[in-house]
Amino acid sequence: MKVLVVGGGAREHAIAKALKRSGARIYSVMKNRNPGIYRISEEATILNENDISAVVSWAKGRVDLAFIGPEAPLEAGLVDALEDAGIPSVGPRKSAARIETSKEFMRNLMERNGIEGSLKYRVVENLEEGRKALEEIGDFVIKPIGLTGGKGAKVFREHLQDEDEALLYLKKIFEGYGGGKAVIEERLEGEEFTLQAFVDGKNIVPMPLVQDHKRAYEGDTGPNTGGMGSYSMENHMLPFVGKDEYERALAIMKKVVEAMDREENPYRGILYGQFMLTSSGPRIIEFNARFGDPEAMNVLSLLETPLTEISEQIVNGELKSAEFMRKATVCKYVVPEGYGIKSKANVPVEVDEEAIKNEGAELFYASVNEKDGEIYTTTSRTLAVLGMDDNIEKAEEMAERALSHVKGEVFSRHDIGKKELIQKRIEHMEELRRNSDRTR
Ligand code: AMP
Ligand code: GLY
Repeated sequence: MKVLVVGGGAREHAIAKALKRSGARIYSVMKNRNPGIYRISEEATILNENDISAVVSWAKGRVDLAFIGPEAPLEAGLVDALEDAGIPSVGPRKSAARIETSKEFMRNLMERNGIEGSLKYRVVENLEEGRKALEEIGDFVIKPIGLTGGKGAKVFREHLQDEDEALLYLKKIFEGYGGGKAVIEERLEGEEFTLQAFVDGKNIVPMPLVQDHKRAYEGDTGPNTGGMGSYSMENHMLPFVGKDEYERALAIMKKVVEAMDREENPYRGILYGQFMLTSSGPRIIEFNARFGDPEAMNVLSLLETPLTEISEQIVNGELKSAEFMRKATVCKYVVPEGYGIKSKANVPVEVDEEAIKNEGAELFYASVNEKDGEIYTTTSRTLAVLGMDDNIEKAEEMAERALSHVKGEVFSRHDIGKKELIQKRIEHMEELRRNSDRTR
């Protein structure tokens, strides 16, 4: 099977590897030359991934199926155009991708269908409405309704100290940032986790739970980023998520898929639920219409069922099941110095690929440039390594050994996947549950 992979990040490198492993021939479209994807492709072209007609005309006659990595081409209508050209695609059509690309659409869909797990919110489009909503919501988070590359959410007392700062941020949004409208929603307290699923329009097959780390520095400090690393456990759960809480989260995802089908806007592709586990159960922070990055690396490294088979089932509406190895994974990103504030771009990074392989670890290239066999940083994340083993301690150690083979003006979060940080998460949830019992 010939498969088009759209996107040039570590997530797409993971997708391409999984497809290749299951026998596919890879044809890739990316805006930067990702050396990992480039090497395993039969053919690759450097194109703007959002230039729909250019991507479609390159793909036509070359591939049997397409797999879309990032959200921007989904929003631009790439799947609609590919399907119209006779190329079935793993990824939602533009209208269904609104589950990610419009927070207004997502919150309204949940409300309209009475789906639990949402939160108090207001959609506002001018300062007067904004002021009123800030008052009504109280402890708030402000987000543009559209895409901002994961950098749009501003939390009261963390990023915005008072109403004046909140109004200033709203003004920036109303002037056009992230879609021109804002969602003001209640601030939730809890622990975040990611539940990803394969979806064929009706059926949904969940993947192992993963926890990402958004903050740039160790101890969950510093600016929010695209994600610094993630882990998953050998039992496919997370140590602070109860069985019942997991079932509730999955039920929310199922209800969303059912509601979209009922509303004749069926969802096909990868559905990503970003949950906040609160003392009153799992609540939706956001949905993504694609794999998470870094979460794709965790689950795709564990996937035993051929991804080609699953992809065909998704596009044919015949999704069955997916098997994942009972192993733990730890993924750590390597990013340029200054990442999150002002990245040191264009500096060389030395990567000993052979040594990483000998450790048993996986390597995924992200936003790098390759010139004359040398790897250079850009302003975004550089590469990721992944350790996989029977338990999280061993997986984490493998990831750390892999990191020692990467050198340059770069950094990583060494605390991801370590016992101390995971224990902190467990204790935080226990404390929240205790406090809520007391006030009940
Ligand atoms: P988002 O852009 O919606 O993924 O939000 C980015 C990050 O902001 C999340 O990963 C959370 O850490 C935080 N955040 C977003 N919404 C909320 C909320 N309602 N309550 C608390 N934290 C939030
Ligand atoms: N890991 C966060 C995201 O992919 O949006």
